[in-house]
Amino acid sequence: MTTNKKVVLAYSGGLDTSAAIPYLTEQGYEVIAVAVDVGQPGDLQAAVDRAPQLGAAEARLVDAKEAYVEGYVLPALTMNALYQDRYPLVSALSRPLISRVLVDIAKSTDAAAIAHGCTGKGNDQVRFEVSLGALAPDIEVLAPVRDWGMTREDTIAYAEDRNLPVTTTKSSPYSIDENLWGRSIECGVLEDPWSPPPEDIYELTTTPEGASSKPRDVEVTFEAGVPVAIDGERLAPLNVIESLTKVAGDYGFGRIDLVEDRLVGIKSREIYEAPAALALIAAHRDLESLTLDRHFAREKRRMDALWADLVYQGLWFTPLREAAEAFAAHTRSAASGDVRLRFTPGGCLPVARRSKTSLYDHGLATYDAGDAFDHSDAAGFVRLWGLPAKQWARVHGE
Ligand code: ARG
Repeated sequence: MTTNKKVVLAYSGGLDTSAAIPYLTEQGYEVIAVAVDVGQPGDLQAAVDRAPQLGAAEARLVDAKEAYVEGYVLPALTMNALYQDRYPLVSALSRPLISRVLVDIAKSTDAAAIAHGCTGKGNDQVRFEVSLGALAPDIEVLAPVRDWGMTREDTIAYAEDRNLPVTTTKSSPYSIDENLWGRSIECGVLEDPWSPPPEDIYELTTTPEGASSKPRDVEVTFEAGVPVAIDGERLAPLNVIESLTKVAGDYGFGRIDLVEDRLVGIKSREIYEAPAALALIAAHRDLESLTLDRHFAREKRRMDALWADLVYQGLWFTPLREAAEAFAAHTRSAASGDVRLRFTPGGCLPVARRSKTSLYDHGLATYDAGDAFDHSDAAGFVRLWGLPAKQWARVHGE
């Protein structure tokens, strides 16, 4: 093929997306390599500078950290988003944003196609392709890494044959994806669910045994669901996340070892580190326990689970995801207040909470004399509440 069509490639600077540049070029594509900064570590600029040597016609670095926090991470916090009750959607959250950046660049450069570097086994291919399809239904999507059928060793040999300036030529046993909401680690020895994860896979969290044994309390302030201060000091949400990543990580809090159900039907063993995400979700849920009425709270938990499922499954750009958020937005005025988190080695628990819209009424709740609760209401209420159970027992026997 020598059509010289333009393709926008989601480029990370890693082995696969680096090899994808000559691979696509050899197929007649003109490659625009795009690295999207969502808070992953490492020198992305250096990776972008390397792309032309790999054969890219153009390479760009897009700082999307603010957009990621505002448009993706904060909604995830509002929805207490945990897939299968455990995984704060670290990788799943960034894919729709990266897709949007790619589509914007493809439209402004008149590119005919967009390429991602996912393999055929994971969830990320689904998230990219469903998102790209929703944002630009007519754009062609290429998945060179899925198509070429090379093992990691093959890819290294491919890169060496062509003298590609790829920094990681020695095979790392793990596949890692990271952004400011956390870190996903898979492959290697982790593929044995009976094998405890080796300590050297962790970067954001210390070993809990090595953490300070002196507990530390940290106060998180929320305004309309947004974390705006730590210990009374106002910070941008991005800085709240960075600060809690450090505090919680230093206490060895935020590790997740999960056998999860992937969208493509397989179970996979995944390790995550998400100290800030887990601490903030714990605080936000705790605030909700104080400020939401019980019937709304029960339905909110169902919306939360639905939202996490949709995002995990690549369905970000759908009306249902937006509708679930609209449900939560209905009580945004009840999502302000302070929660005190207590960090201990490997642990983080809310130990105090307050809010101007607290529904907690000490006069009603107290067991002290002179409370405002009318005890005489209780007897009739309990009789009526138990009536169906009593009736059932009468008919069916005890
Ligand atoms: N299993 C997680 C998810 O589906 C993590 C994916 C990590 N991605 C990666 N390319 N290593 O969200």
